Amino acid sequence: MSDADPRSKYRAPIGTHDVLPPESDRWTRAVATFADRAARFGYGLVVMPVFEHVEVFQRVGESTDVVRKEMYELTDRGDRRLALRPEGTAPIVRAYVEHRPTPPWKVWYIAPNFRYERPQKGRYRQHWQLGAEVLGADDPEVDVEVIALAHGYYRDLGLEAVRLLVNSMGSPDDRRRYVDVLQRYLRGHADRLGDEFRIRAEQHPLRLLDAKEEGWQDVIERAPQLTEHLGDRAREHFESVQEGLEALGISFELAPRLVRGFDYYTSTTFEFAADALDAAQNAIGGGGRYDQLAEEMGGPPTPGIGFGIGVERVLIACDAEATLQAGGPRLDAFVIDQLGDGSASVFLNALRDSGLRADRAYGGRSFKAQMKVADRAKAAYAVILGRAEAEHEKVAVRNLTTGEQLEVPGEQVAGWLRERREHER
Ligand code: HAM
Repeated sequence: MSDADPRSKYRAPIGTHDVLPPESDRWTRAVATFADRAARFGYGLVVMPVFEHVEVFQRVGESTDVVRKEMYELTDRGDRRLALRPEGTAPIVRAYVEHRPTPPWKVWYIAPNFRYERPQKGRYRQHWQLGAEVLGADDPEVDVEVIALAHGYYRDLGLEAVRLLVNSMGSPDDRRRYVDVLQRYLRGHADRLGDEFRIRAEQHPLRLLDAKEEGWQDVIERAPQLTEHLGDRAREHFESVQEGLEALGISFELAPRLVRGFDYYTSTTFEFAADALDAAQNAIGGGGRYDQLAEEMGGPPTPGIGFGIGVERVLIACDAEATLQAGGPRLDAFVIDQLGDGSASVFLNALRDSGLRADRAYGGRSFKAQMKVADRAKAAYAVILGRAEAEHEKVAVRNLTTGEQLEVPGEQVAGWLRERREHER
């Protein structure tokens, strides 16, 4: 938290945050770990605009808060109605429809999303998602692959207390039939449970299943379940997905009341819950199928599935499980210049070119002041360019953890440091 005056305009807007070093080192690792895993699964990176035409998001959810109440909309100087992206799936499908890549199109992204939510820990107005989407394949094996990608990522990060919840939303027909059954059931309880319940039962019966109001829970718990009303196709698909997950040893819980926040979902849906987080913000990732969305955006019928993982929430979960911590040296070497003849920058540049992480202080400061900066920079070694050593073409190398110091010939120091780094890894 900064001490700046909360009324000042020169601070990040409410619900947003800066990520500074060394905290941002964890972001680098979180993103690189995902990039590596996505590449191993054959997914390519997509870089998308931060804003889109407002219409791109309309199919995402006319009945959802994210679109109705939380979207950042703007009109540009050319009178175009635009929206800051509240989520990544619709822009990916828009890009698919626009560019028509050969299916199956397997892609991933890292992107900020904007939602005018009430900020609290783990809930922000700008949050970042790592996501993956596959367009053009409805094989249940794809559902399993996509879930395995996310599941493996949490494991790569060292997270253990993560539960996978899965559900099926069925086909649009299955859902229509089920909503009739559900509404009939809910209406039967509306007299007792009041107007708010009645309104929600009429307007968003599915979302009502996710309501947190205590007095409603026994009715919600006994409500008919969508998975009992699936048609043959959706049921068989869902069974195959479960078998595929079992074959990969990925444990999951069936969550018949899991309702995801967008209108586009069909068939398989899933969420990853981190037990270390507060229940209200414990979703560290979620996704599902959206087999109609491409067609609804004017493209050819193209099934799709994917997920989004909230980077900030994943890092909170990593904190709670004490994994992916900042630690270890940030630099291999810090050059301490006692010569003042310009040779230090040549020497430093050579260290960097040889693959070492190396830095220096500026402004001709004293030995002591430079050593202080080296410590603060979390360097493993100080490489001291001193006059006495220079006469024998040597440098002094000091281990900043143990204080041990020795002399190394100048031209060997890069190799020497690299060897130490390998050794200490
Ligand atoms: P979502 O469930 O809205 O899905 O968001 C995905 C993840 O982003 C959540 O599980 C959570 O970790 C994180 N998240 C969402 N809102 C916030 C927030 N306000 N602050 C911090 N983190 C947040 C989607 O966005 C879909 N596009 C996922 C998807 C991809 N479905 C199919 N493909």
